[in-house]
Amino acid sequence: MLAALLWNGFGMTHAADIGQGVFTSAQAARGKAVYTANCAQCHQPDLSGRDPPIPALTGDIFLSRWTGHSLAELFERVSTTMPQAKPGSLSKTEYIDAIAFVLAANGFPVGKAALKPDPAILQGIQITAQH
Ligand code: HEC
Repeated sequence: MLAALLWNGFGMTHAADIGQGVFTSAQAARGKAVYTANCAQCHQPDLSGRDPPIPALTGDIFLSRWTGHSLAELFERVSTTMPQAKPGSLSKTEYIDAIAFVLAANGFPVGKAALKPDPAILQGIQITAQH
């Protein structure tokens, strides 16, 4: 009983591993629609960007910029500064779904549960490049 309580407490605070799948394929598909409607005109449908000045959201440059940062930072960045002409104009759910799509496009695996727009959870998920 005590062990179960301790285990649950540990589970709640323990960081999730991005390599084990932190979003679902359905969420990434919803995110693709959000991305197509709100992001693709600048970052391009294939996320390759338009340099300069619009950064790619896939590939080595993107991953090296974000590796070691948490999903909370990526969520904060996107939800407060994007779409560039209308920052903060989407719902939290739309932002997190769009991020799930971006992660899927970068080769991060899908899992069983959808990613929630909860900074406390996102803080515990580090971005690490997948091989
Ligand atoms: C009007 C054009 C435009 C739209 C639409 C737009 N972005 Fe951006 N985005 C930019 C520009 C320009 C930058 C780089 C300068 C800046 O950060 O403001 C950027 C930066 C970013 C970055 C940081 C990239 C990095 O590696 O530092 C992310 C992530 C991002 N955008 C995601 C999105 C998402 C997701 C959407 C849709 C919800 C979106 N953007 C919509 C123009 C746009």
